Amino acid sequence: MTERKSENLGMIEQAVLNRISQGEIKGRIHQLALPYKELMAYYRCAMMQVETKFNVLNEELSLQYDHNPIETIKTRLKTPESIANKLIKKQVPLTAESIEESICDVAGVRVICSFQSDIYMLADALLKQDDITLLKRKDYIANPKENGYRSLHLIVQIPIYLHDQKKLMKVEVQFRTISMDWWASLEHKIRYKKDVIITPEIAKELRECAEISDVLDRRMEMIQQKVECGNQ
Ligand code: GTP
Ligand code: MG
Repeated sequence: MTERKSENLGMIEQAVLNRISQGEIKGRIHQLALPYKELMAYYRCAMMQVETKFNVLNEELSLQYDHNPIETIKTRLKTPESIANKLIKKQVPLTAESIEESICDVAGVRVICSFQSDIYMLADALLKQDDITLLKRKDYIANPKENGYRSLHLIVQIPIYLHDQKKLMKVEVQFRTISMDWWASLEHKIRYKKDVIITPEIAKELRECAEISDVLDRRMEMIQQKVECGNQ
């Protein structure tokens, strides 16, 4: 009985495959994949441009301020699964056009700074550049999220120059200090652990850790300012 069933399934599959030739299958995949691949390449270019801008600023500002304002820069492209999930959630078609229109964080640049003041200095310096347009700003440092999350988020638009056209691409930039990044990374790990339940007690603990890390950030910055003033 089971054998007969699988035999039948095989025949149905074969019939479908016979109707769509191998060439046609390749064509269809190509039709879907090429615009996606192209778009991802454009996002990678935009990310590289933003990363370079921060490397330039770090180089220049480190001479002016006697310390490197940037500890590390991380870049990431959203995974196809994550892009597809977001499109489905937003109830828009799974096409390259709707990715561009409705997702702002396909390209992500995370700038880990030494001190909180470096975050605002770098954000201002980036936004002053005349090829950068600010689309959205969320300051979770001035207004931390309920769970304690702190970070400055910008959605910016940047042009990339291709051989025959200029394209405006969106990039999400997240600015964090080392301690904000440390907290966010661990909180993310804890929250997304399999079968985890965040009880009100755990949520409170996490929020308190965020508050302690904020206090430490401020103390370290005060120490840095004292040292800088003393050395002048
Ligand atoms: P999404 O990207 O769909 O979440 O859009 P949104 O407009 O709600 O974004 P928001 O600017 O609030 O946050 C975007 C990104 O910031 C997330 O993808 C995370 O990388 C980070 N983030 C925001 N909130 C939290 C948080 O509570 N914990 C951690 N660990 N990361 C967060
Ligand atoms: Mg996101």
